[in-house]
Order: sequence, then structure tokens, then C-alpha cells
Amino acid sequence: MSPHASESPASESPAAPDIPQRAPQNQGPDASLSAFARAHLAQIDAAGQLRSLVTTRRDMASASPIVHRAGRALISFSCNDYLGLATHPQIRAAARRAITAHGTGARASRFVTGNHPLLGALESALAAAKATEAATLFGTGYLANLGVITALMGPGDTILLDALAHSCLLTGARASGARFRRFHHNDLDHLAECLRAARARPGRLLIATESVFSMDGDRAPIPEILALAEAHDAWLLVDDAHGFGILPPGPPVPLAMGTLSKALASQGGYVCATAPVVRLLHHRAASQIYSTALPPASAAAALAALRIAKAEPERGARALAHARRFARLAGLPPPSSQIVPVRLGGEHAALAAAARLEAAGFLAIAIRPPTVPAGTARLRLAFTAAHRDEEIDRLADLVRAL
Ligand SMILES: Cc1ncc(COP(=O)(O)O)c(C=O)c1O
Repeated sequence: MSPHASESPASESPAAPDIPQRAPQNQGPDASLSAFARAHLAQIDAAGQLRSLVTTRRDMASASPIVHRAGRALISFSCNDYLGLATHPQIRAAARRAITAHGTGARASRFVTGNHPLLGALESALAAAKATEAATLFGTGYLANLGVITALMGPGDTILLDALAHSCLLTGARASGARFRRFHHNDLDHLAECLRAARARPGRLLIATESVFSMDGDRAPIPEILALAEAHDAWLLVDDAHGFGILPPGPPVPLAMGTLSKALASQGGYVCATAPVVRLLHHRAASQIYSTALPPASAAAALAALRIAKAEPERGARALAHARRFARLAGLPPPSSQIVPVRLGGEHAALAAAARLEAAGFLAIAIRPPTVPAGTARLRLAFTAAHRDEEIDRLADLVRAL
């Protein structure tokens, strides 16, 4: 088995085209670079995978998740504001107060002059929410996964990643220099086989997976994976980016990673673990040590969101109920989270479906390779506490007709 992959990663970009490195004479120093970019973009476009940034503004007057794009108002089913907190008056007020009291940026890494008291308060609240001894913050969820994996794993170690694990887990595994192997998605037998093979070698062993898979919405069997990890003396990292605030907390795991940018309506990432593990991350996680701390307003917003999420658990339940209502009406299998994929196969089919929904007033972005495996382009619908039944019913009618 190759040390790198048992299946092709979902987050790989098409291979770069083979064009000469040297710029033709008299065309300026960036001619070769621009020619490379043009050739690569043409290849991406031919595969139906070109992305574009569309200026989008959230409608602050509406309780529903309405966005404005190109002069049109669209009901968004593509935002990860699962609890509907991104416009909550108390959270906006908390962020405003933090800016008024402390200014905007954090000014430096936490180990230099960036360790604002709000960061410690947020870490205590996150550790309490995850029932762990300690927590530590990163600039984003992506940086948290990159930081924790490279801090703990290195050459001679082995990382086992679920085949559908997010790009940042894959990037962390690659950057660590450890061997890594992808086990078949949610397949406990294959994971056990990979663990046995890895345990035959010396070195540390880490399993990394997601509680709720970002593009499929299905859940990992965390208690069973935890039991396998314990049986093989492996560490377990669970990325809870899409589960937090929606699903009941799973069993405590050695490395509980999450993001502030989805249910908590802010920005930043975190890892919850025992106090010595967190202390070690302070010394070894380069993406935390050498990067500017979270701004105080992001910490204040996340703290306020955590309080509301805890006091109002019905928000998560509502997002889940909305997803179930939609799936029932659209004739899809019952979902196990607030994320519902509508698989369409090819890139062009997914783009055409997204365009039809947009024409009818809905934002449902087409998700294409390399974000998802080839042949599984889809609409990824994210249901939130803020949607209304009639919006869901209209969307279901449209999706049934696709
Ligand atoms: C599963 C998963 N992990 C991590 C991240 C990264 O989190 P952040 O957006 O805070 O960088 C994402 C974001 O899309 C995600 O879906």
C-alpha cells in the first residue's frame, strides 16, 4: 500500500499543466507565472470546476437567511450559520463592546502581546462545553487542524484519516511528515485493519475523522472508533466543525477540535484536550505560535454565542427538524444532521441545478470536485434554525423537480 493514499483525496486540485518555467524573452518578469496561471485555469474550466467569487451581502432586516447577490435577494441554503446567530443582537453588541473597549486587531501572537483576557475566558468556556480540562484557540479551524497534527505527529508516525476527511486534516497530515493512509469512509473493519498494520511498526498512531461530514452530512460512529483507538493505543482527533450546537455531545475524545465560524457565528478554531496536551500545543503548534491571535471582538462574539447556544438548545433541534422536513418532502433519505446533500453526479448537472434554484430565488451552491470526489458533484444544503417552513417546502418542491 502506498504510504500516501488508499483512495484519491477529495481535496486534491487537478495536476498543474506542464508548461516551461522560463519566461519568453522581453515579456516581463511575471510572464511565465501568468502563462502558467492561464494554462492551469483553462484546464480547471474545461473540467467544469472553475470557481468565482460573487459579492454577497447578508440582509440584516430579515430574520430568514436572505442574501443579496447581483441585485437579487436569495434565500440561502449555503450558509453554515446553523443556529441563526450571525445577526443576533446580543452577539453583535458583544462584538461592538469589545471593539470599543479594546480596539480591532490582536496586534501580535498570543505569546508576544496578543493574549487578551477574552481569549482565556473563551477557552475556559469551550473546555467546559466539551467537558475537557483545557482548550486552546487558533486563528481559524483550518489552522487548528494544521497546528494540532503537525505538533503531535512527525516522521516515523502514522496517521489514519477517513476517506472524506476535510482538506485541513489532509493538509496537516501531509505537513507533519508522518505516513498517512485513508480508511474507507466510516468503515470500522477497514479502520481496524489499518490500525493492525500500523501497529506492526514503531511510532505514534493518530486517527482523524469528523463528527458530521461537511459535504455529506452523515456522522462518524465515534464511540466505536474511540474503542478501536483505545484497543490499538492510537490517539483520536475528532473535528466537530459541523456537529457542535446541533447534535448531543459525543463521548469525550483525546483531541476535540472545532471551529467558531459555523454554529458560533464568529471566526477562529480550537482544540480541547487535557491540560498537558494543551500546554504542549503552546510549544509545538506553529500555526498558533507564529500567527497573530484572534481579535478581541471575535472572542467576545463567540463567548456570547456559546451562552445563547447553551441557553437555547431548541435552535439546534430546529435546524435538524428543518433538514428532516425537507428530506421527507423532497423524497430523500432521512438525514442524520442539518446538512443534506443532493447528489447530481457531473459538474455541469450540479451547476445547472444550482442555476435553476437561483432563478427561483434560492442560493444553493454547486459543490464540485476537487471538494468532493469525482462523479459526486452535488448541491449541499445547510438547514438552519432561522429558515421558515414555507421556504423549506418551496425548496423541496424545486428539488423534487430537478
Ligand atoms: C470539517 C471542517 N473542518 C474544519 C474546517 C475549517 O474551519 P474554519 O472555517 O474555521 O477554518 C471546516 C470549514 O469549512 C470544515 O468543514
